[in-house]
Amino acid sequence: MSKLLVANWKCNPDSPGRAVRLARETEKAALASKGVEVVVAPPFPFLLSVGKVLRRAKLGAQDVFWGDVGASTGEVSWHQLTHLRVSHVIVGHSERRRWLRETDEMVNKKVKAALAADMKVILCVGEPWEVRRRGLGAAERFVTNQLRKDLHGLPHSRLHLLPARLLVAYEPIWAISPGRPDKPNDTVKMVGRVRTFLHAAFHMLSARVLYGGSVTSKNVGRFLREREIDGALVGGASLKASEFADIAKTASRRVG
Ligand code: PGA
Repeated sequence: MSKLLVANWKCNPDSPGRAVRLARETEKAALASKGVEVVVAPPFPFLLSVGKVLRRAKLGAQDVFWGDVGASTGEVSWHQLTHLRVSHVIVGHSERRRWLRETDEMVNKKVKAALAADMKVILCVGEPWEVRRRGLGAAERFVTNQLRKDLHGLPHSRLHLLPARLLVAYEPIWAISPGRPDKPNDTVKMVGRVRTFLHAAFHMLSARVLYGGSVTSKNVGRFLREREIDGALVGGASLKASEFADIAKTASRRVG
């Protein structure tokens, strides 16, 4: 099974020139890493120029609006993204949930809109430290509750598409940069819980689940050697071309 790496550039870099240079290097890393799929998610203003240099790597957006076109100041719709050849979209990232007060209800609308537009959704879920300090069981309940709300009411006619279209990124919020990565064993348990939920709720037999939370070239191998973990959502470490290339090399060695 191939591994998937999502380079989430967040609000970086600071210029189109730097974005294109980083995209070229990331593309090289993608080409050099057999069995590894790479998605590059730059900020909206760089989607067009970054998209032009990616061949093997796919283009992702960091967010999407559920509306089509119309009076929604500041939003970027799924409709506009499809014109830029965006194939993947990150939805519900913890930074948006936390700083922009994005609710599960909003996340749910975004998931539905992106799936209806035939995009692949990278749905981010994860618990804050206040929950995790009560134990893994509390964290599992928190995460399955997020999934229940975020995936509520998906049209039955599209459920068969979910295995190909829905990816879940488990990101314990306390591990996101600058944070402390989770222990691979605990991540495996959580990933198992996510899969059990998706199977019970949507009969998904082959859900792809990624890990995200301060992934670096030093620790990524410990996560990706677990068969249950299908890849990583890489934030800060995706901004350094050599670091991302090392992560991709390690991922390639872990392909089963
Ligand atoms: P990080 O971010 O790798 O910098 O922790 C991951 C993410 O939030 O996408």
